[in-house]
Amino acid sequence: MTVVPTLAGGLPWLGHAITFRRDPVALLQQGRSRHGEIFRFVLCGRTVYALLSPRGHQAFFRAPDDQLSAREAYRFTVPIFGEGVAYAVSPELMDEQLRLLHPALRDDAMQSYAGYMAEEVEGFAEQLGSKGEIELLPAMNELTIAIAGRCLIGPEFRSAVSAEFAGLYRELEGGINLIAFLAPGFPSVANLRRDRARRRVAALMASLIAERRRTKTVQEDFLGVLIAARYKNGTALSDDVITGLLLTALFAGQHTSAVMATWLGVLLAQHPDEVDTLRLEAAGAIRSVPPRLAALKQLQRLEHCLKETERLHPPLVMLMRMVQRPFTVDGVTLPSGSLALVSPAVVHRLHEVFAEPERFDPDRFAAPREEDRATPFSLIGFGGGKHRCLGLAFAHQQIKIIWTLLLQRFDFELIDPMPRPDYATFVVGPRGSCRVRYRHRTAMRSDSGRRPAEAL
Ligand code: HEM
Repeated sequence: MTVVPTLAGGLPWLGHAITFRRDPVALLQQGRSRHGEIFRFVLCGRTVYALLSPRGHQAFFRAPDDQLSAREAYRFTVPIFGEGVAYAVSPELMDEQLRLLHPALRDDAMQSYAGYMAEEVEGFAEQLGSKGEIELLPAMNELTIAIAGRCLIGPEFRSAVSAEFAGLYRELEGGINLIAFLAPGFPSVANLRRDRARRRVAALMASLIAERRRTKTVQEDFLGVLIAARYKNGTALSDDVITGLLLTALFAGQHTSAVMATWLGVLLAQHPDEVDTLRLEAAGAIRSVPPRLAALKQLQRLEHCLKETERLHPPLVMLMRMVQRPFTVDGVTLPSGSLALVSPAVVHRLHEVFAEPERFDPDRFAAPREEDRATPFSLIGFGGGKHRCLGLAFAHQQIKIIWTLLLQRFDFELIDPMPRPDYATFVVGPRGSCRVRYRHRTAMRSDSGRRPAEAL
């Protein structure tokens, strides 16, 4: 049997919790350079096995739920999403519930969302005026909350709940912390606020659902799909399950999308040539606003820039599973009760998988290089296997629409130096200030005496 190296320097019981909390990626990188692809360390009394190679990912993502459990690893989400949904229920029921979201992600629904997304981006762009400065992450957060509210909850989001919801959402987010990870029910101040906010969200949602049922309103949004959904046995979803599934999609998708949109903006601001290429590509493909799905799919260069953003700055830097029964990978057996961990942030920068991994190089995803395809399970910013992200197409569509429409109107430049990732947060955005200066493109052209150009 292979002996697994143990990361040195941990404290009794706490292990490496303090350094891990501060910067998990640095700790994992250090472990990998010292010990190779598999090693272990302790976090608050629990042994964690880091599997830091595409081969390790493959085993991790292909393991059945009763061996590597996402449910047990992500129990901290239960007080936020609710008792009757997602990681609170059996993997079979969670699977059935997530499948009920599939009609909300079909092409016809996604085409409607393209309209809502474009409307929100245009409204946001209007507010910006002709020139100014913005903090990119808060701006992308505002925009993606508005888009998620419209696509998930519907027009009522803006008219009835949006002002109060922003505060509740922040309190729910406050429930994602180390204490909640170790003991989701611990009555810390943040957790008590989280629970109060969850009760209020449930009440708000119940009145929206009751109103839709009373008026028999049918809307093209996630809420409409879930009200119409039926379990295999024919029963409808309770209001609390509907609320829970909406919160699951919101928490899985909103902040992650905001962060990815921010990183893409930062990378593009640093690569003006890339911006020219994207504008040309969009001018050739996009014939209308909102864009047709077929046109968005033609934006191959933008797709490669998105993948490169996912590679360099994955919003979720580590994914976990609780080992339920012994699990063997590469001759190493992980015992029951330990945690298995993979890290997109570490493996996406391996020289043996990606050429010059520190370089922004969207071409690596184009034929004939296709570096991610050459090694399966090497690009895992959206996970892999049966738990692969359900909202990938939604996230890509949203970020494509945001940047296509914004680049069409504005030139951007980064004011602050290239920000570093803030690995101390759960969803990893830039650390500190990330300001961009923008200027309307037609304004620039008229300033320079040239005729205002057509859009794109
Ligand atoms: C840039 C944006 C996003 C990123 C980076 C992202 C990333 C991920 C990752 C890494 C996983 C796998 C977690 C694991 O295996 O432990 C995942 C799962 C999931 N994502 Fe996303 N996601 C994004 C957007 C979205 C959106 C927009 C939605 C919903 C509309 C969504 C819904 C989900 C759900 C429901 C799962 C659980 C799937 C399952 O366990 O079967 N995500 N996401």
